[in-house]
Amino acid sequence: MINYSINIFVNLFFYVKNLSIQQRIYILYINYIQKYLLNINSLIGDKIIKMLAPMAGITDGNFALKLIPYGFDVVSIGGYNTDFQTIAAGKKILERGRNEFDIEKENLPYVIKKEIRLIKNKYPRVKISLNLRAAFPDSIINLVNIVDVDKIDIIEINSHCKQEELLKIGCGQEMLHSPNRLGKFIKKVVNDLPDKKVSIKVRSNVKGVDDLNIAKIIEKVGADYLHIDAMKPGCFEADLNIITKIANETDIFIIGNNSITNSVLGKKMINAGASGVSIAREAINGKLNFDISKI
Ligand SMILES: Cc1cc2nc3c(=O)[nH]c(=O)nc-3n(C[C@H](O)[C@H](O)[C@H](O)COP(=O)(O)O)c2cc1C
Repeated sequence: MINYSINIFVNLFFYVKNLSIQQRIYILYINYIQKYLLNINSLIGDKIIKMLAPMAGITDGNFALKLIPYGFDVVSIGGYNTDFQTIAAGKKILERGRNEFDIEKENLPYVIKKEIRLIKNKYPRVKISLNLRAAFPDSIINLVNIVDVDKIDIIEINSHCKQEELLKIGCGQEMLHSPNRLGKFIKKVVNDLPDKKVSIKVRSNVKGVDDLNIAKIIEKVGADYLHIDAMKPGCFEADLNIITKIANETDIFIIGNNSITNSVLGKKMINAGASGVSIAREAINGKLNFDISKI
């Protein structure tokens, strides 16, 4: 918006004839104030988030340490399974050869504390997002209350994973099919962890799911971020239309994800209406082959 009005003032200054010196000075002055406001905005909160997206069995403290030097300001750890149901599902997924963090419930707070310490000791200003799979909101709330609460910046509810074992117990992407339950689930986490930022990770274009409705619910119940894997089945590029649609019809902070493999695609995500981007597969080898500062 501010960017847009700066352009108007520049056009006025250069192209409108018959303006007096005073009027031109006035235009320059307004233009200067607008640029100043733009700078302030980028310092407080309007800054684009660049996030390392979660990858189960991969994104832990040591992995995050490898990627932070590339310029990520938020790193995900997890997805972690937080209760007996999701831990059992994770074990089945692991048995069929897919990566998982296989951690017993009683050890989970200890492991998470260790991962957080590893990151924060070296990069205290980098924010940590904890991606959690849970059958019940209390599984997340109890875990976060045990873990050193000050150090987790973002709690991310996983409504994204599509492994059959998780869908069967009503977790991950399956939550999108029950918008009422999803809303209540998020609201409980938001209300019971008032000092935490809450993000919801979703996938777009799931058959039978109204993406915009889900985004509106997520906004209404008070979540801070909508982290959306804008995937489009059969397509190797993100569905930018869904990002624009949600950005136009809600005020939720969107972290756009899917197939960002260079800075141009990252910029496209921002231009479509996201306020942040996240990257998973392109970083899976522990390095990044493009400059994210250019997004
Ligand atoms: C190996 C692997 C594991 C993943 N595990 C999780 C997970 O635990 N939680 C989650 O929300 N997303 C998970 N994802 C999805 C990614 O965060 C991301 O949404 C998806 O890969 C699309 O982004 P990309 O195109 O940048 O890879 C995983 C992706 C991969 C490749």
